Amino acid sequence: MNANWYKTIDPELIEHGARLVAQSRRLVVLTGAGVSAESGIPTFREASTGLWARYDPQQLATVEGFLENPKLVWEWYSYRRTLVAGASPNPGHRALARLEQILPSLVVITQNIDGLHRRAGSSRIIELHGNINRVKCFRGDEIYENWSDEDYKGEVPPRCSKCNSFLRPDVVWFGESLPEREIGEAFYNTENCDLMLVVGTSGQVQPAASLPAAARHKGAKILEINPQPSGISFLADILLQAKSGDILPVLTEKAEKLKELEGREGTPE
Ligand code: OAD
Repeated sequence: MNANWYKTIDPELIEHGARLVAQSRRLVVLTGAGVSAESGIPTFREASTGLWARYDPQQLATVEGFLENPKLVWEWYSYRRTLVAGASPNPGHRALARLEQILPSLVVITQNIDGLHRRAGSSRIIELHGNINRVKCFRGDEIYENWSDEDYKGEVPPRCSKCNSFLRPDVVWFGESLPEREIGEAFYNTENCDLMLVVGTSGQVQPAASLPAAARHKGAKILEINPQPSGISFLADILLQAKSGDILPVLTEKAEKLKELEGREGTPE
């Protein structure tokens, strides 16, 4: 952790954010790749380190790319599965899991496919872009949970045991629709929340990027956490320019103390 980050944010802004969190009755957290950056998982759009700065999304994250070179695409996702398997949830993920204990209404809506929120202990998670550890039949409905590259020794990509089509990762590629249930639940929770934390997303990819505006439209406050301004910053009531692994534990601890105080004051003698 960079010890100086705390000094660069107005402490009153952090207190204000913690009060909003503690007072929230229906909290939604929208996360993007930035929340996993401190676990060593690369983001997409950051200059030079982002995946899309080094790899071509047309080749690796579209149906057309898969049809052109299924082996290359399968192997790229295998490589990313290995990265995810070797990574651990960071203090940002863990703070959100802790926050769910304090605010049981909390729902995490994530664009991440790495499963780290669940591994950190969050339980109410909406995965908008799928999950890299799940694979599915390219043509049919067959789903294979917890795919293990280590246990598989055959041809690549593997084939569906039912229809013999190729298997592919169960993630959303460019040009594909988001899973219906997940996007429905995401908008339902968004439109019924009173506070949305927007953490580590550039706000460039729809429809996820339109959730903060939908929340705000219904009267929710927006608290953004991102070291850099994003496409969503103009909507934020509070922008905490810090790494999520640094600021989320602080916000959670402060909100927890405020809730404890609220509990004590609310208990009759
Ligand atoms: P991006 O790579 O577009 O943005 C990552 C954001 O995280 C940037 O705004 C960074 O400033 C911020 N960030 C970096 N480190 C951070 C940290 N330690 N703490 C907090 N924030 C940090 O990633 P997403 O917005 O998630 O979709 O991208 C959205 C979608 O685009 C992805 O789900 C993926 C991609 O194409 C698909 O693959 C379908």
